[in-house]
This record gives sequence, C-alpha cells and structure tokens, in this order.
Amino acid sequence: MNIQHINTIPQQQNTISVYPQSVKTDNIPASTEQLKYIANKRNDKCNLISLNNYTYQQILCFAEESYTETNTLENYRKLGAEAYAYLKSEKLNTINITDHNNNKEYILSFIEGLLLKSYHFNKYKTLEPETFSLESVNIYSPNTTDTDTQILEITTSAVFSARDLVNTPVIDLSAVKLSETAQKLANEAGLQADVFDKQKIEELKMGGLLSVNAGSFDPPTFTTLQWKPADALNTKPIVLVGKGIVYDTGGLSLKPTPNSMDQMKSDMAGAATVMATIYAIALLKIPVYTVALVPSTDNRPGKNAYTPGDVITMHNGKTVEIKNTDAEGRLILADGLSYAKNFDPALSISVATLTGNAALAIGPYGIVAMGNTTDNSIDKLKQSGEKTFERVVEFPFWEEYGKSLKSDIADLKNLGEREGGAISAGKFLENFTEAPFIHLDIAGPAFVSKSTGYIPKGGTGTGVRMLIDFVKNYFNQA
Ligand code: BES
Ligand code: ZN
Ligand code: ZN
Repeated sequence: MNIQHINTIPQQQNTISVYPQSVKTDNIPASTEQLKYIANKRNDKCNLISLNNYTYQQILCFAEESYTETNTLENYRKLGAEAYAYLKSEKLNTINITDHNNNKEYILSFIEGLLLKSYHFNKYKTLEPETFSLESVNIYSPNTTDTDTQILEITTSAVFSARDLVNTPVIDLSAVKLSETAQKLANEAGLQADVFDKQKIEELKMGGLLSVNAGSFDPPTFTTLQWKPADALNTKPIVLVGKGIVYDTGGLSLKPTPNSMDQMKSDMAGAATVMATIYAIALLKIPVYTVALVPSTDNRPGKNAYTPGDVITMHNGKTVEIKNTDAEGRLILADGLSYAKNFDPALSISVATLTGNAALAIGPYGIVAMGNTTDNSIDKLKQSGEKTFERVVEFPFWEEYGKSLKSDIADLKNLGEREGGAISAGKFLENFTEAPFIHLDIAGPAFVSKSTGYIPKGGTGTGVRMLIDFVKNYFNQA
C-alpha cells in the first residue's frame, strides 16, 4: 500500500471525507438534493454515507465524540475500519482521504483503524484467498505529515507480523522457526539478534526451559534481540521477556479436551508481542535502549517429559517442585527474567498468555498488569494503554499471593492457589528477578473468537502498539 500526502482536495475522484459528528450538515459541500439525503441518513444514525456519482464515490464519515478522549480516538479507529470494509465491498483500491478535523490525533486514529483493518491471513487459503488490497491512499490533511503516516505504517506492519505469528500453527512454527523469524525481523530493522540452541541453553543451565522441552521432539531456543542506538536516553535497558510456548498441550498434566487446547497455538503471543515491539522501536529509531528475550519450546507429553513431582533447578539456581506441567509458562519466563540480569535492566517486563484466570477475570477487553515498581511505571503503562486502546488494568501484587507457592521439599512450587491464580503466577516470576518488575498477562485479548472493529478474529497482536508508546515515552521527563 502506498500512502502519501497531497496538497489539494481532489475533485471527481473516490474520496472519504472525515468529519467530527458535531459538523452541521449545511456546512458540508454538496448539492441541495445531496444535503437532504445526508441529513436523512444522519437522522438514522448512519456514520458512513456514500454519495454515488456514477464514476466516483464521495464517502462521508462522521466520528462520534465520546465522554473520554480514549473513547473518541477509538471511535475514529473504528470508523476507519468501517471505511476500509466499505472500500473492500465496493472494490475501491485507490482512495483520497480528506481531513475536516482540527485535531491531528483524530485523523491519524482514523487512518490507523483503516490500516489495521486491512489485515488478512492468506497463508493457508488455496481456494478463496483474500484478493482485495488497497493500493494507494492519498491524504489531504494540512495538520499531518508523511512522518506521521510512516509511523502508522511501521506500527501496523509490526502488529501484522505479531498476528501472523500467533495465527501460524505449531506444524509451521517450532521454537527454531520462531527464532528464525526473530532473526529475519532483526535483519530488516537493524537489531542485534542472538539465538541460543539447546546445547547453549544446557550450558546456561536454564532448567525451566529445558524441563518444559523434555517431552518435545523439537529443541528449544532462546532468542535475544537488542536495540542499542548511539543516541539512547538510557544506559540501563528496558527488558521485555515474551512467553514463546509454540504449543501448549499441558504436557503430562494434559489439558482436558474438548476445546481447552483449541487456541493453544497462540501460547507464543507474548513472544510475538515483544518481537514485534522491538522491531517497530528499531524501525522508528526510538532512542531507547531496549532488549527482547524469547525463551521458546512446545509443551508436550512424550519422550522424557517432565512430571508432577519433579524438582528442577532453574537458571538462577533456585529449585522448583513441579505440581502441574501445564503451569509451564512461568518456568520458561523465570529463566528469561533471570538471564535478563546480564543486561542490568532499569525495568523488566514479562508478556505472556500466562493464565486462564486472567482471561476469566477481564475477558478480551484488556491486559492484566501487576508489578513491584515503586515509581510511576504502571501509570505510564496505563496511559499508553488508554492512548492506544490496548487498555491496562492493574491487579494487586500483595505478598500474600506469593505464600501459596511454598514447597515442602524445594524453594518453590509452580502452582499456587486457584483464587487469584493470575497473581500467584506473577508472584512466582518475581522470585527470578531483582530488577523493578512488571508482568503483563495477555491471555484474554491475544486471541479472540470474533472480529470487532479493526481487531480480527484469531491473533490480535495485542500489546504491540501499547508497548511501543510506553517505551517511546518511558525516559521522557514529566
Ligand atoms: N497457556 C495457558 C494459559 C491460557 C489459558 C492462555 C487459556 C490462554 C487461554 C497456561 O500455560 C496454563 O495452562 N495455565 C494454567 C495454569 C494452572 C495450571 C495453574 C491455567 O490457566 O489453567
Ligand atoms: Zn499451560
Ligand atoms: Zn501456556
């Protein structure tokens, strides 16, 4: 897709005019007859109105202003998605967009929604692949620049790469494949990539990752991506650790079928999120030293699979009694968080589809956050969440939630109480990092069963836009 700014309002071409709902119909340039039609449609609460002029269409879009800025911006995104769906239904692949708002964030949100809606996953479609694509978008908007739209193109392509990874089944996405994709993204964006193979992981004594991998035919990987620009604002990095379970059967504590395994190809969504985030950060040349770590394996019974009752020794030397092999995400993340120490993080953030409990608590509408930071880091996450509508809700992180992780025979066990299970999972991780720590559980929003607005069914790429914004602003004063 080619997006560019234009300096004049084009005449007699397919055009989308984006207005705030507050615009009076009389102020819209159109014939008396057309104005009547528009007024009627607006009366019927229609927010997308097309005037068909035989050789071209004039599409009018009206965005509702909401009681919060967050929701107003989201209305613009959703309207952009609606506009994309309309263009697709009419097979219009060249379009001009004209901006009639006095707020550049509004028109940019509209364009963002339109771009995000253009996602499709054709990889396995031999019979009816999606063939429509928007070829050229010309933007008339004196308040915005090519740089603004380039940023949207980069963030959108990062989100799409996360969605692609989440949608790809394990038959085509082993841990090795995931690390190869990380290397590909790194080459494209100018990141430093290092992939550890099984032998190196054994040398590093990553007992969590190796135990989860023990039942698998395929070897594990541990991938490091680094973005360390010369103009970085920070000397200690933000380290993002993503859960890269390419498939979660539960292991010997096999997930109770039917249905409970259906979505488990998405158990590497945390990995996809951190990979896509650092990819965008590098392409955008954001001056923040950032590291992404991705421990990866599938979780299966078979071979020499780890068992309930096993006691394993983790990368940091602590011992863990296994109570349930389905609580595997915390074991590989723990090794990742422990390895992060090599980078002396200013802040470590884990991102994971970690617990069904988090999804049960808030559904697909937000990201569960918790942490032990004593500054305003979580507030900043929430702000980025509101701006991008990848909203963040903070759970308590009281020490009581960690007590149920005591083991009779080891330092810890990998299973806490059922109540507050998302939090005891976070508390488990806290044992493996000395850095200020935030944990994000994306089990709810990472993979969804129906499409809404610009969010497709399946892998959503949740957290990518939020984390890019967070990293960008983290070291700014104020
Ligand atoms: N990958 C799952 C969590 C999950 C569940 C993600 C549903 C997305 C949708 C995780 O590894 C898991 O199995 N967690 C268990 C933990 C339990 C054994 C303590 C869970 O949530 O039931
Ligand atoms: Zn599991
Ligand atoms: Zn899992």
